[in-house]
Amino acid sequence: MRAVDLIHKKKNGEPLSAGEIAFLVEGYCRGDIPDYQMSAWAMAVFFRGMNAEETAALTLTMAKSGDQVDLSPIRGIKTDKHSTGGVGDKTTLIIGPLVAACGVPVAKMSGRGLGHTGGTIDKLESIQGLKTELSRERFFAQVNDIGLAVIGQSGNITPADKKLYALRDVTATVESIPLIASSVMSKKIAAGADAIVLDVKVGSGAFMKTVDEAEALAKAMVDIGAQVGRQTAAIISDMDQPLGYAIGNALEVQEAIDTLRGQGPGDLTALCLALSAQMVVLSGQADDIEAAEKLLRQQLDSGAALDKFRAFIEAQGGDPAVVDNPGLLPQAPVMIEVTSRQEGYIQRIDAEQLGIAAMQLGAGRATKDAVIDHAVGLVLRRKVGDHVAVGETIALLHASRNDEVNGLIAEHVQDAYTIGEERPHLSPLLLSVVT
Ligand code: URA
Repeated sequence: MRAVDLIHKKKNGEPLSAGEIAFLVEGYCRGDIPDYQMSAWAMAVFFRGMNAEETAALTLTMAKSGDQVDLSPIRGIKTDKHSTGGVGDKTTLIIGPLVAACGVPVAKMSGRGLGHTGGTIDKLESIQGLKTELSRERFFAQVNDIGLAVIGQSGNITPADKKLYALRDVTATVESIPLIASSVMSKKIAAGADAIVLDVKVGSGAFMKTVDEAEALAKAMVDIGAQVGRQTAAIISDMDQPLGYAIGNALEVQEAIDTLRGQGPGDLTALCLALSAQMVVLSGQADDIEAAEKLLRQQLDSGAALDKFRAFIEAQGGDPAVVDNPGLLPQAPVMIEVTSRQEGYIQRIDAEQLGIAAMQLGAGRATKDAVIDHAVGLVLRRKVGDHVAVGETIALLHASRNDEVNGLIAEHVQDAYTIGEERPHLSPLLLSVVT
């Protein structure tokens, strides 16, 4: 077999066999196939696409390229959740305890933030003492014991995806539905869950700019799940502004606690309930979405979800008192009000720009090894659809010190708001479900 012949074949729109895909991906990982041939193939896929069998074959080849986690020591149907990126996305902090309170085992591996996006592990580490590195045995035992554990990604998961993604990033081949679908699903499959629930974001701040594109991506991922024997469901959700109000690690933990108490922002609560309901159904704890939502509401109303969060914090060495005393979370010493430059309706909030502002305050990493400040970030006071006057506060910066750079960050936040005379059309947060 020769790489050049397979590139030709794909360039002509013909499907490749599973063996041919494995030849390319494995050869690329070993260094036998050079970057220029792999990029030519990726570009051919970008224009010609891949059918469902090819996409599943690529997914499995990448899933098997490194460590594969075996969650079989954990009882029950293990269900994982994945979101295709987001600013202010603290859903894992809420969904984990919420579904665990319904009897769904959650054995979650999460990442750290990079650039404008945050990471669940950084958020959790704003709780004093909480450890996100557990031995495999302790990880399994904790899930069997309390139903929930969250650890940082360790080991060598999907090195083929890492290498191919880095290549796609510099060859303008990221935005290909089969390549994104196989990249996301390879990581979820290697992480060992039996069932997978996906939150596919659509909108200006997301990879997928239209509902049609997002549905196509969701369908590609659900099809991969079906082909490889992992039940998968996807929710398409709007991302024309950040989720909830808080952006920054401790600030997002606080918002997650409020949500688990039943007092969270409406958009965040609705998305968490919708994703959780899919997880509860896939794990067999409810027969249908309606029954699952009822069960989930009961966990919020009775305080069981919040109790589960306390138990989780304690099991991982953190101080569970933060749940009732938010003052125990890291607090930023300097508050700066960001005011509106204009009168009118807020029509759009650029989530990516707010993510960058939070990073500039110290909440995120500009480089992989940068040290973050858990206390800092920003809290939105006004969101899309709100009417504001000139000089009205639209957001509050939580900063580590008085510094002239704060003024520039405040301007950056102002720039992220689009304000106009017309009342905007508010699109619903939950756009569709693909199963
Ligand atoms: N996220 C991923 O993990 N992979 C992609 O290809 C795109 C987004």
